[in-house]
Amino acid sequence: MKLIAAFCLLALFGLTNADIQADKLYELLKAKRSRNSPVVNTWSATDEATNEYSPVYIPPQDGLAEQDKIGSLPGQPSGVDFNQYSGYVTVNPTAGRALFYYFVESPTDSSNKPLVLWLNGGPGCSSMIGAMSELGPFRITNDGKSLFRNDYAWSNVANMLFLESPAGVGFSYSNTTSDYDHAGDKNTADDAYIFIVNWLERFPQYKTRDFYITGESYAGHYVPQLALNIVFNNKKTNQTIVNIKGIAIGNAWIDDETSEKGMYDYWWTHAVNSDATHDAILKYCDFANETSTDMCDKSTDKAWDEMGNVDIYNIYAPICLNPDLRNASTTGSINDFDPCWQYTLVNYLNNSAVQKELHVKPTSWDVCSDVIPGWNDSPVTILPTIKYLIENGQRIWVFSGDTDARVPITSSRYSVNALNLPIVTAWRPWYLNKEVGGYLEAYQGLLLITVRGAGHTVPSYQPERALTLFSSFLGGMLPPSS
Ligand SMILES: *[C@@H]1O[C@H](CO)[C@@H](O)[C@H](O)[C@H]1NC(C)=O
Ligand SMILES: *[C@@H]1O[C@H](CO)[C@@H](O)[C@H](O)[C@H]1NC(C)=O
Ligand SMILES: *[C@@H]1O[C@H](CO)[C@@H](O)[C@H](O)[C@H]1NC(C)=O
Ligand SMILES: *[C@@H]1O[C@H](CO)[C@@H](O)[C@H](O)[C@H]1NC(C)=O
Ligand SMILES: *[C@@H]1O[C@H](CO)[C@@H](O)[C@H](O)[C@H]1NC(C)=O
Repeated sequence: MKLIAAFCLLALFGLTNADIQADKLYELLKAKRSRNSPVVNTWSATDEATNEYSPVYIPPQDGLAEQDKIGSLPGQPSGVDFNQYSGYVTVNPTAGRALFYYFVESPTDSSNKPLVLWLNGGPGCSSMIGAMSELGPFRITNDGKSLFRNDYAWSNVANMLFLESPAGVGFSYSNTTSDYDHAGDKNTADDAYIFIVNWLERFPQYKTRDFYITGESYAGHYVPQLALNIVFNNKKTNQTIVNIKGIAIGNAWIDDETSEKGMYDYWWTHAVNSDATHDAILKYCDFANETSTDMCDKSTDKAWDEMGNVDIYNIYAPICLNPDLRNASTTGSINDFDPCWQYTLVNYLNNSAVQKELHVKPTSWDVCSDVIPGWNDSPVTILPTIKYLIENGQRIWVFSGDTDARVPITSSRYSVNALNLPIVTAWRPWYLNKEVGGYLEAYQGLLLITVRGAGHTVPSYQPERALTLFSSFLGGMLPPSS
């Protein structure tokens, strides 16, 4: 019931297509379509009726926030005008399991801004990707040593909380290493719920604040599942109610069948695959069936081969040709995304001075987990979970960078179409600085919105458009139509 190897939607440490194929999502999906499949049952709303609430508060949390306050991150620019905190929150004292967080308050009027959790995917990849390569207050210069300010940080409009989850990812750990063998969607969501309840005890001023969960990629599972956990528990708990208002998920893997089909359709329509290969996939692959066939596998292998060595996460971006020969003296620019960002990120976070300032024990930090051996459960679809959240009044935005070929816009469209929701605002462009920022279609209970010219990690490539989208999401308003 387990995956074999390291797999990662985001950690394409490799530079060749063969390595790209070793990404975590690829391996997970392959395992799901094999005889050795992880559990694929869908969570159902009937879970709500079962088990009583068991208290999850792990005292004491008083005074820990002050200890978690970051003085100054190594290499950070002068003039930093906001508070940063980081550290561990224990989620299981018996096992000795703790999750790492990095929290950034908004520079202005933070006490009137919402609290937003960000999760990256994998499964098994770090949310510090989001914090330091996408939407956080800083990006790292490509020498891996200094930081520069992100003018379009999401912390401009919200208090941003980044969580490394589950244990075994990044700085998050367990003293009971057999915990890593039990990684899967269910345990990830359960620990993340315990995390947020205890984090709110540590930062009680945020207890009643509007709360949103955002994320991308395999967080298309994590985010709705955690939201569901919160909504369930809010109905039962005699502890802290988490004031959840909505979720936004980007290039999100939410349904195996529609996402797989959408991926190969995108490849064909974006000149990555031949007619013959696409026809063969249509003929031989039944993505509704969790068991694959040899002919289908042969066709999809061919499709990957035909793609060649492009960055699957943004097919029009340059690739990282040689991380060792990069020009280390370049200063970073927010509008010029570093194709070697993964090496840069490891350089920075695997540095002992940085780790000391982040209040973590010495760790060989990596973009995706090296210690989680497999993934034990992953529902074939999250659509029933999303439906439940809609019915419970949560705001749901599904956004998509339109140059991503990994979880492309076609996958998102097919997935959303499967919900069969009535259209409220017909497909239209949205604008930023007189240019089309992307397109949107509003359904009853859900918004589908694209970001033009963005890859899988949307804010990396289109930081200003991403911030416009995020502000609109928080305000519950569609971005401008002209
Ligand atoms: C894990 O073990 C170390 C060493 O005994 C201890 O300092 C730490 O507090 C433990 N972690 C948790 C979450 O209990
Ligand atoms: C409330 O939580 C406490 C533990 O914090 C528990 O002992 C008690 O039974 C709970 N009360 C109800 C009504 O659930
Ligand atoms: C799924 O695929 C397997 C292998 O080809 C086949 O034996 C089975 O009948 C299929 N199931 C459905 C429901 O189509
Ligand atoms: C590095 O970049 C600087 C500034 O753009 C340039 O002057 C220099 O020639 C570059 N060095 C190498 C080795 O490419
Ligand atoms: C992190 O640094 C340590 C010590 O320098 C090294 O052994 C380890 O391989 C590094 N980890 C990664 C992921 O590069």
